[in-house]
Amino acid sequence: MKDTVWLDCENDLLMYIDQTKLPTELKICSCDDVFDLYEIIKRLSIRGAPAIGVGAAIGLFAAANKFEDETEDGFLYSFKKGAEYVNSSRPTAVNLSWAVKRMINCAEQHKGNGVDAIKKALKEEAIAIYNEDIECCKKIGLHGEKLIKDGDGILTHCNAGSLAAVRYGTALAPIYVAHENGKKIRVYADETRPLLQGARLTAYELAESGIDVTLQCDNMVSSLMREGRINAVFVGADRVAANGDTANKIGTSGVAIIAKHYGIPFYVCAPFSTIDFNCESGKDIIIEQRLDSEVTEMHYKTRMTHENVKVYNPAFDVTDNSLITGIITERGVFTGDELIKQK
Ligand code: MRU
Repeated sequence: MKDTVWLDCENDLLMYIDQTKLPTELKICSCDDVFDLYEIIKRLSIRGAPAIGVGAAIGLFAAANKFEDETEDGFLYSFKKGAEYVNSSRPTAVNLSWAVKRMINCAEQHKGNGVDAIKKALKEEAIAIYNEDIECCKKIGLHGEKLIKDGDGILTHCNAGSLAAVRYGTALAPIYVAHENGKKIRVYADETRPLLQGARLTAYELAESGIDVTLQCDNMVSSLMREGRINAVFVGADRVAANGDTANKIGTSGVAIIAKHYGIPFYVCAPFSTIDFNCESGKDIIIEQRLDSEVTEMHYKTRMTHENVKVYNPAFDVTDNSLITGIITERGVFTGDELIKQK
């Protein structure tokens, strides 16, 4: 399994797989500039909450390493400005602001030691954030695997796999572990309109790993569940509020409502860096609105609807904690009510 984002330690560059090119092309790119980093995250070349956080941390170090400010104050000013700019690229995935804050705090803590020492500390912090993601996802995989039985059919929405984190992913981590342990599982991947993260990315990475994967359109979930093909739902998260309400890719809440109707367990997989204890409930979560053209044009040869038609294109929705069977984290599995005690 190839990492999605990493640091080229010799050349101090952020390296990443450009996810907009998948599955037709596996394109590896590099970045060491804050304006490029903003665009890369905004256009979803790096996407998925954990990958955005790790990519931002490594990218900020790579960019700052090139700054030529002679004074420490000048360096810190430019670093914070760049970090705030990158932080504004996507509002919902809390891992972005979490990683940016860690990088800013790290720079401030080393103030007084000189610019070179700050750069060295930023490199170490970015590497720590990268390594922590790998460890957290591994543990999510081990905790979640216990909830999967041999022969299960599992439905997932969007892409919360290795492409959405550094290496193992969140919602797909339990599936990878179950597969490694010899459990025969069938995965059903929602195509995930409008940007097709399920069709392009989840189906791709599962197929590449030799896992039985079936693709369906988003409006086929109810039918699959009614036919008894789904035993559990595993999804990722972009921000989990303190009460367990969860923002994830648009369409997730509908899947949860249908799963409840059919009595199918619905699991959210997320590292603690995705839990925002400052958000009391889902009402406090800002939902990113994206361009109309993603719905009307992006995957068509010509605009496929009348030019006077308005478009509603929120990137995420919120699933109420009452619909979530368990939140699978690196520290274990929690209900929404139990989560708050972990603060
Ligand atoms: O808009 P995206 O592709 O970044 O949205 C990604 C998702 O909604 C994922 O499910 C979420 O970030 C969890 S990734 C482990």
